[in-house]
Amino acid sequence: MKKNPNGNLNERPVVFFIFGATGDLAAKKIIPALFNLYGKKALPKNFKIVGFARKDYNGGKFAEYSAEIVKKRFGENVPEKELKSFRKLFEYHQGQLPDMAAYASLAEKVKKMDGKSGDTCDKIFYLSIAPEFYGTVLENIAASGLDSSKTRGGGRARIIIEKPFGDNLKSAQKIEALIGRLFNEDQIYRIDHYLGKEMLQNILAFRFANNLLESSWSNKTIESINISLLEELGVEHRGAFYDAVGAFRDVGQNHLLQALALITMERPKKYDADSIIKNRAELLEQLIPPSGKAVTSSAFRAQYKGYGKIEGVKPSSRTETYFKVKAALSSPRWKGVPIILEGGKRMGERLKEIVVSFKPASPLSGLGSSRGLPRKAGEAAGGIACQSELVFRWEPEERIKIKFCSKKPGAKAEVEGREFDFFYRDSSERVQYVEEYEKLISDCLAGDRTHFISAREIYAMWKFADAVVRGWEKNLAPLHSYEPGSKNFS
Ligand code: BG6
Repeated sequence: MKKNPNGNLNERPVVFFIFGATGDLAAKKIIPALFNLYGKKALPKNFKIVGFARKDYNGGKFAEYSAEIVKKRFGENVPEKELKSFRKLFEYHQGQLPDMAAYASLAEKVKKMDGKSGDTCDKIFYLSIAPEFYGTVLENIAASGLDSSKTRGGGRARIIIEKPFGDNLKSAQKIEALIGRLFNEDQIYRIDHYLGKEMLQNILAFRFANNLLESSWSNKTIESINISLLEELGVEHRGAFYDAVGAFRDVGQNHLLQALALITMERPKKYDADSIIKNRAELLEQLIPPSGKAVTSSAFRAQYKGYGKIEGVKPSSRTETYFKVKAALSSPRWKGVPIILEGGKRMGERLKEIVVSFKPASPLSGLGSSRGLPRKAGEAAGGIACQSELVFRWEPEERIKIKFCSKKPGAKAEVEGREFDFFYRDSSERVQYVEEYEKLISDCLAGDRTHFISAREIYAMWKFADAVVRGWEKNLAPLHSYEPGSKNFS
């Protein structure tokens, strides 16, 4: 059978390996997403899920554990019959991540699992583990014969990995060099779950399906762009991880910069992986890393009070839990437009959105002058300063809002802001993260890398983020503090 490395995995049996199968990520995201795909009959005909972890489980126990996870995630209303047949997909292999022998015996087991297909089945290796183990696991997969994609007749192999991709440019390059030695770029599916979000996927559709927007999408008419990821929750039980990373590297360097790429990238030639990845990467390469001094004025940071008492956090920690960083792009299209990236924990509200603010239109003489009445604040001479705005919001509810300037009803020739608001759904109508992972796993099965990030993008994002973090490390911007649940900085 001919092998198309990017094709849909449906012709041969598919084995979906989860390394770190009993961990947090698998429980919260991967297993519930697989269950949903199963329910929609969106998994390949012949499909197995093989868990690999340290725990002393067997196939039956792992299936039972997974069924419990599904019930916990979706409530008790899960159809029993469906869950029963879903459980049949599970196999388990006990092993330590560095133990090569465990991979070799797993390879043998997989061969026996399907007598006819042997090692010709297609394989997805999901690395649901801490990034420091990526190297060991990938080396072992390649050396143990578990990956048979390079042998004649062997099935295809795909790798799924997740952020964080290193903690600076250098460490990211190191990881990528290792991956690149063992696998081809088109075998690697790097997840940033923001690219699986409905509203973020809608940005390109909305921008390029409406002629209304694209001709005014530049510094000629756009005044600023604000991208926010404000959370109500705090660091919770992730103290040690978070303290080593900080808010900016946790969500700014990745999710917010990906959002920035989608909102500002050039029109892709086609809606396909090559064109979209290329344009996102080219855009991110235009980010201007702030010079040392610029960090002082453009990279605000703060930590919420009481953060140092969280388990795993150093009491004297100087890690930021909030940031507001001004980014700028060097291209002629975006030169001079400030793009504000803002993210934080314990902010007293949950608000995740992109706001595109347009420059006030040149006042039309006579329109908006309040005929004899004193001018109000913000009212330009000869016209009222009304600004259009476009908002893409994904939390607390999914909606797109457009503020247009329109004539104020009545006898006077005055304009005012009016909103067109369309609402998709409340975030309580979906199970957090599951939808994103469902889409991304399904894309990986289909061989579609559009919503996965490339090494080139990772490097570009780190170049920008490293400059900010270096400036903070040199104390070029003070660390402010705030009361949890507020935005009152001191
Ligand atoms: C993760 C961060 O990548 O993104 C978390 O590690 C953050 O700290 C989360 O809470 C935000 O994602 P979402 O989908 O809840 O906006």
